[in-house]
Amino acid sequence: MIPSELKNDLQTRIASAVTNREAAVDVMKALQGHYGWLTDEAVIEASELLGLSPLQVEELATFYEMIYRRPVGQHVIHVCDSISCWAVGGESLLQHISVFLGIAAGETTPDGLFTLLPCCCLGNCGQAPTMMIGDVVYGSVTPENIASIFSSYQ
Ligand code: FES
Repeated sequence: MIPSELKNDLQTRIASAVTNREAAVDVMKALQGHYGWLTDEAVIEASELLGLSPLQVEELATFYEMIYRRPVGQHVIHVCDSISCWAVGGESLLQHISVFLGIAAGETTPDGLFTLLPCCCLGNCGQAPTMMIGDVVYGSVTPENIASIFSSYQ
């Protein structure tokens, strides 16, 4: 169950949206921030807040890559696998990070610190290859600077 302060905040955000559906991602992200991932309980809460069915919330949740319907690590790493990044080594970047962390794409490190996920374009194509850790975008990532980037998260 979410705290009343968060509930009130979400109700205010929904009231200021043109449609409840427009506020759905915002609501799901806030609930995800509270629980760590979008739990089944959070889907029900989102549906009640938004006036949508749980199935409608589920459909929206599974459409957006940044909404997690399974537990994730403290830091989620999204590595872009769209065309601009792929063309300049995005695929091998994912493999290097996978080896560096000792997990495959889709997995979480045993200490719960990192989850590694491939994703669609992060909108930073000009600095490909790109990855994102949490909300921070990293461009022109190379196998050589992976260790230095990750050192600030460990
Ligand atoms: S293709 Fe990778 S950021 Fe756009």
